Amino acid sequence: MSLKYILPVLAASQAVFAADCGDTKIKTQSDADGINTCSTLKGDVTIDKSFSGDLQLNGIKKITGGLLCSGGANVSSITASSLTSIGKGFDLEGLTTLTLLEFAELDSVGSINWEALPKLQSLNFAKGVTQAGDVSIANTGLTDLNGISLKTVGTFSIQNNRDLKTIDINNLQNATNIISFSGNFDTLEINLPNLGTGTNMTFQNISSVSVPSLEKLTGQLGFWGTQFETFSAPNLTQTGDLIFKDNSKLSNISMPVLKTVSGGFTIARDDKLSTISLPMLERVNGAIDFSGTFNKLSLGALKDVEGSFNMQSTRGNFSCDDLRKLKSDNVIKGNFKCDATNNNPTTANGGKGTSSSSSGGSSSTSSGAAFMTGANVPVVGLAAVFGALAQLL
Ligand SMILES: *[C@@H]1O[C@H](CO)[C@@H](O)[C@H](O)[C@H]1NC(C)=O
Ligand SMILES: *[C@@H]1O[C@H](CO)[C@@H](O)[C@H](O)[C@H]1NC(C)=O
Ligand SMILES: *[C@@H]1O[C@H](CO)[C@@H](O)[C@H](O)[C@H]1NC(C)=O
Ligand SMILES: *[C@@H]1O[C@H](CO)[C@@H](O)[C@H](O)[C@H]1NC(C)=O
Ligand SMILES: *[C@@H]1O[C@H](CO)[C@@H](O)[C@H](O)[C@H]1NC(C)=O
Ligand SMILES: *[C@@H]1O[C@H](CO)[C@@H](O)[C@H](O)[C@H]1NC(C)=O
Ligand SMILES: *[C@@H]1O[C@H](CO)[C@@H](O)[C@H](O)[C@H]1NC(C)=O
Repeated sequence: MSLKYILPVLAASQAVFAADCGDTKIKTQSDADGINTCSTLKGDVTIDKSFSGDLQLNGIKKITGGLLCSGGANVSSITASSLTSIGKGFDLEGLTTLTLLEFAELDSVGSINWEALPKLQSLNFAKGVTQAGDVSIANTGLTDLNGISLKTVGTFSIQNNRDLKTIDINNLQNATNIISFSGNFDTLEINLPNLGTGTNMTFQNISSVSVPSLEKLTGQLGFWGTQFETFSAPNLTQTGDLIFKDNSKLSNISMPVLKTVSGGFTIARDDKLSTISLPMLERVNGAIDFSGTFNKLSLGALKDVEGSFNMQSTRGNFSCDDLRKLKSDNVIKGNFKCDATNNNPTTANGGKGTSSSSSGGSSSTSSGAAFMTGANVPVVGLAAVFGALAQLL
């Protein structure tokens, strides 16, 4: 038979058996079976919220649109054994009985947005997702993120996953948007061994963080309410705002090659803090505002502090006279305040410098406004966001 005769036969059989391989809504397994001849599905696959039980997406290798489900409370598992890529969003929200996601070949996803998947404990992603734009995972039962092995990511936001114990993303080298962790289980350990560059990174409610390769951040690096004792960024040379607040076990901050903070630098209410080691720090574009209980302070190389300088400790073994010389030499451009042994150390704007100190509010400083630091602004923002998230629970 010549090609001339085969083609019409094929066309006829497709008309009978094949779907059009475009946008598809799945209410039952037979809807899913209806697209199993679509090697590439050009459009979105939307799982209807009425779907009940185990869903198998067989045969499909590529979805050019999204794989979506919102409110599918009776979807118990989703398996797609040959799917390698999802062009747009992999968005699952409110699948409250989902226990299994099995995507053995999945490698690339436009973005991941998972919210309210409380029974989902682990990912069966044998190959591992290496490419995704933005990743947001909130309110799931995941205990780890094995199967997500990104090389680069845009936003990476991991919030309120109360069972999450470890995040180990060996491949991640570059984050082009905000990385943020908050409200997870407070024994969460985060290892980003190869992350070299990023923009903003914020960490809340975690027990350890390891960023041995981190060299450069264009935005803020912030830690609130963490449980680790030592923070070390052995390769970090440059960041935007830098913030350590309310980290109750933190005793040692070590950034041996940090040269430039292109924003404000705040340390406050880290009640076990004893050593701050910043031997190479030269330039701070905003203010330096350190208050608390630290004893050793190494600020060996300061050349330029554009903002104000507030240094207050309960038991500091550092010389305010030496620091005052930096002010008189015009290394420090803004207001200067230093007190190495103050029972109630305060932040630049008069807030508490330790969680036990009695001072606070605006009365304790005569020049509050002049001491405003850039670093204070994002803190308020994040606290508000966190409060809003907490209210959703
Ligand atoms: C899930 O199943 C229950 C019990 O059959 C039913 O009442 C409920 O409406 C279903 N939920 C959805 C979103 O279809
Ligand atoms: C990180 O990714 C961005 C965007 O893809 C790129 O412009 C930048 O060069 C990358 N940086 C590094 C150090 O790989
Ligand atoms: C730290 O930076 C140096 C010099 O850029 C580099 O050779 C080294 O591999 C980095 N260390 C890590 C753990 O990435
Ligand atoms: C990133 O950090 C900068 C300061 O370093 C801050 O101005 C900005 O608001 C932050 N962006 C986000 C999304 O938090
Ligand atoms: C997270 O840390 C903040 C302090 O920054 C604290 O107020 C909050 O209670 C903590 N949340 C959890 C869930 O541990
Ligand atoms: C602080 O941590 C750094 C890096 O981990 C370490 O080299 C240094 O000895 C520590 N200092 C103190 C006083 O514990
Ligand atoms: C204070 O620092 C000096 C060296 O700068 C050291 O000799 C002295 O022992 C330290 N005192 C305390 C109480 O740590």
